[in-house]
Amino acid sequence: MTGYKGPERVLSGIQTSGEMHLGNYLGAIKKFVALQHERQCLYFLADMHAITVWQDPERLRAQTFHIVATYLACGIDPKVATVFHQSGVHAHAELAWIFNCIARLGWLDRMTQFKDKAGKDKERASVGLYTYPVLQAADILVYKATHVPVGEDQKQHLELSRDIAGKFNHDYDKPDFFPLPEPLIQGPGARIMSLRDGSKKMSKSDASENASIFLRDDADAIARKIKKATTDPEVLPSEAKGLEGRPEAANLVGIYAALSGKTSDEVLAEFGGKGFGVFKPALAELVVEKIGPIGEELRRLEADPGHLQSVLREGARRAAAIADETVREVKEIVGFVG
Ligand code: TYM
Repeated sequence: MTGYKGPERVLSGIQTSGEMHLGNYLGAIKKFVALQHERQCLYFLADMHAITVWQDPERLRAQTFHIVATYLACGIDPKVATVFHQSGVHAHAELAWIFNCIARLGWLDRMTQFKDKAGKDKERASVGLYTYPVLQAADILVYKATHVPVGEDQKQHLELSRDIAGKFNHDYDKPDFFPLPEPLIQGPGARIMSLRDGSKKMSKSDASENASIFLRDDADAIARKIKKATTDPEVLPSEAKGLEGRPEAANLVGIYAALSGKTSDEVLAEFGGKGFGVFKPALAELVVEKIGPIGEELRRLEADPGHLQSVLREGARRAAAIADETVREVKEIVGFVG
């Protein structure tokens, strides 16, 4: 338990490890945009997380600019929300070390994302990949963030952040020092699946480029990918219940719902009884309407990396003012000589 009484604060981040896709948009960025006018928000680019697997330096820089451009193109206003890069604020790494000494090996051994990413040959995975969720806890708690908007795949990492916060508060007898951050996961976009395989999540690292709709895709690419999306031969049911056991159909209906702001039941009230020959073109039209303008703005912003870099530097300066103070307090609590 924590008796944290500080201000409500929202924080989230995206790894700079590839192209932004519809899952990142619906699971995370769309929520970031909505929250920025409700609470104090900090949105960062997890470049230190990205290097837990090999990244070519030039690509890493380009991907960092790609994601900050995506944030802005989707409507995050850097004057309202603080937008920065993780490596630009030293305090993340400093707090992560202290948290490495709080987290238990048994906790990290349970992390399913490490198992997925390390694969069979875990002896060859980087140590950073293993302690990845500890750095994530530091990202959140260095700002004493109370709310973290993420997709469903981050749920276990958020639970670990809560465990670390709770254990720190308990071990140092400071029950109200760190908040236990709440994940904000709900909504139809929380788990967008691959267009080729309804049992796999849409992912930056999918080998098939037809599996994901990227935010930079133009109208032709979007329409082609939706046309090729794997489906089944049945017509759509008239209620969401009827989608059970039909993961590909459920995914396409979920995408339609998330983009239109409707529930799956409302979408099916309109399309129930119709086949994919009718539903896919309607979905393609909706995706192009919502994503097309983002792609155009993204390309415009990416053409001016100097501006993007200045946004990140200013954001990092504002973020560090909060984070440095937390690290100062933590060092004192732990017993380091100031
Ligand atoms: P990352 O970069 O894999 O994904 C960024 C965000 O997008 C969401 N997401 C999805 N949502 C729905 N459907 C999908 N197919 C899908 N794919 C990705 C993710 O849930 C996430 O919200 N570890 C994090 C980055 C991170 C972070 C943090 C997040 C580092 N530190 C602190 C929050 C707080 C990650 O790798 O996300």
